[in-house]
Amino acid sequence: MSQLRAYDLRGATESAARAAYEGIGRGDLAAADRDAIAAMHQSLRQLGLAAMVLIGKGPKSETPVLYHGERLGDSARPAHWDLVLDPMEGTSFLASGMTNAMACLAVAPPGTLFDPGPAFFMEKLVVPPAAKGKVDPTAPIKERLRDLGLALNKPIDQLVIFVLEKPRHRDLVVRIQTAGARVSQYPAGDVAGSLMASIPQSGIDAMMGTGGSPEGLLAAIAVKNMGGDFFCRLDPLLAMERKAVADAGMDTESWLGLDRLVRTDQALFCATGITSGLLLDGIRPESGGFKVQSMLVGGEAQPRQILNSWFAKG
Ligand code: FBP
Repeated sequence: MSQLRAYDLRGATESAARAAYEGIGRGDLAAADRDAIAAMHQSLRQLGLAAMVLIGKGPKSETPVLYHGERLGDSARPAHWDLVLDPMEGTSFLASGMTNAMACLAVAPPGTLFDPGPAFFMEKLVVPPAAKGKVDPTAPIKERLRDLGLALNKPIDQLVIFVLEKPRHRDLVVRIQTAGARVSQYPAGDVAGSLMASIPQSGIDAMMGTGGSPEGLLAAIAVKNMGGDFFCRLDPLLAMERKAVADAGMDTESWLGLDRLVRTDQALFCATGITSGLLLDGIRPESGGFKVQSMLVGGEAQPRQILNSWFAKG
């Protein structure tokens, strides 16, 4: 496929979301995840991409399909795309029926994306287009918020910062609140948090804190295409992860910007809502079928699109 558009990816995220939908609120994470992975895989094969899974669902030994390094399409031909995917972002909260679960997929020309390797976690800072280049991720929280407020023309007490609700963020939350801003805490789902932070008037002015690296790469692609700013610093939290990152000689001090993370303006992002959140409607049963909603984020010059699709049951 010579000219791929974000629109072409929607079949893969829609099919994963529809498969995951059956798992909502039933408490069987593994089954919902498995079904979503299988559905996305089948749909990507039908799309006929010559691609390699750069960041997928785990090593081959753990995941039968969509594992790191899997080649899709004719493996005799060079891959035209690197894939970053999460067929069920928000797995843990999907099973209990919570909000903001999405199926996500991004593609980029080979070798243009940062590979976090063994680093499962990264600290992130996401701000909207009006604050691009104006907030220094290395500055203390109070200064970041001051500069964000100046860039957005908002007093600090009107800023709302998305933070994952985790024990590791207690100090961050206190710092944000002490500086005078508000915190909006969600138990999971920092791809949705990053997207909201880069969409003006979404109700979220920035995203801060540590979350998954795969989720970070997915979000970085969408944020770049929407004109926002995304920074990260590798922040290994698990003992095994810390060792692997140290053994690989990876830097955990420096903040990386979009110039290092997404070195292309041809990356594409697509997400389909599974459960409803501030960003996307979840799957809705309607007479005789389902309605699903997707967000398509093409290259930098492309507008962000929200697409509703209706499917007959069966
Ligand atoms: P899952 O899809 O695995 O449930 O991940 C959801 C998520 O909240 C991500 O959005 C986030 O980046 C990551 O988990 C944070 O990981 P943890 O919950 O282990 O701190």
